[in-house]
Amino acid sequence: MTTLLKIDTTNPDPRTISQAAKVIRSGGLVAFPTETVYGLGADALNPESVRKIYTAKGRPSDNPLILHISAHQQAESLVHMNDTARLLARTFWPGPLTLVLPAKDCIPLTTRGGLDTAAIRMPDNPTALALISTSGTPIAAPSANLSGRPSPTDAQGVLADMDGRIAMILDGGSTRVGIESTVIDVTDPKRVLLLRPGGLAREEIEHVLFMSLAQPDSNSKKRSPGTRYRHYSPSIPVKLWNVDSVFPDCVQDSAGFIGLHQPPVNVRVKLLFGSMEAYAGALFAAFRQLEEEGCSEIIAEYPAGSSGISEGIRDRLIRAAGD
Ligand code: TXA
Ligand code: MG
Repeated sequence: MTTLLKIDTTNPDPRTISQAAKVIRSGGLVAFPTETVYGLGADALNPESVRKIYTAKGRPSDNPLILHISAHQQAESLVHMNDTARLLARTFWPGPLTLVLPAKDCIPLTTRGGLDTAAIRMPDNPTALALISTSGTPIAAPSANLSGRPSPTDAQGVLADMDGRIAMILDGGSTRVGIESTVIDVTDPKRVLLLRPGGLAREEIEHVLFMSLAQPDSNSKKRSPGTRYRHYSPSIPVKLWNVDSVFPDCVQDSAGFIGLHQPPVNVRVKLLFGSMEAYAGALFAAFRQLEEEGCSEIIAEYPAGSSGISEGIRDRLIRAAGD
């Protein structure tokens, strides 16, 4: 049985939080809202609890988890911070930035997928922060979807994938950013790697660092292990459309469209967004909605532009389309 508890995300009820923290402390799984997507949380320092995450998600055990923290000094106790990492943490935390750094021994190998590094971030959501601090332990949390499915951005999405598999869901409504955090490797401060584009724009990080983020080469060990797998996919095909090119072949009576511009053909369901941020915010929920409405395929606009959250959207779309 999965218990679903409503919570006011920005002003969480301490009694609800302590109920959830009790589950975390006793080794159970709690799904909770962050500013990006819902996380599937467990005590990051307890390998038995963390193993349950892999089982519930059907996730390959070599794909490491992000440790979520609620205070800056917690980072120092978990990983070997350097000055570049501290600067980024001070500037962007709480927020959608995940830092990969050399792990200290207190982080179980299960949590970090057997690697000598670990990923940490401080989420920008009062419910998430209260849950972490009340639990008194860092919380390991991947996105709260079955492995390969679109990340849930509301409690209904979590329930669809996780009902009966986890102890509790904190329902704090829809998340703000809609795609996952940006993951960077800061192990070598002279060459900071962008492992996964996401909620924090690359140029914001580059502006603070006074340098460009490097791309890990495709067979580098430094690649984010998670990026090897097909991801974010609805159960129906996803085709990409660039506004300047020909609209993909589709069955108009049953196709669904998502994007920023009017498509040049009629489709059965059309979801149009007014800004890049709104598109990112609604992307995964739109995937799930079009699937539930019985569409046979999804045509998604592949956004142009080098700035802001567009790089993260393009990354998710390419993976969803399986190209
Ligand atoms: O916004 C987010 O990041 C959400 C919320 C819940 O915080 N979490 C999330 O977790 O997206 P997950 O597990 O779905 O993605 C974590 C990514 C994966 O691509 C994983 O491979 C990478 O971070 N990662 C974790 N630890 C790493 C490490 N030590 N080295 C390289 N990549 C790592
Ligand atoms: Mg995920």
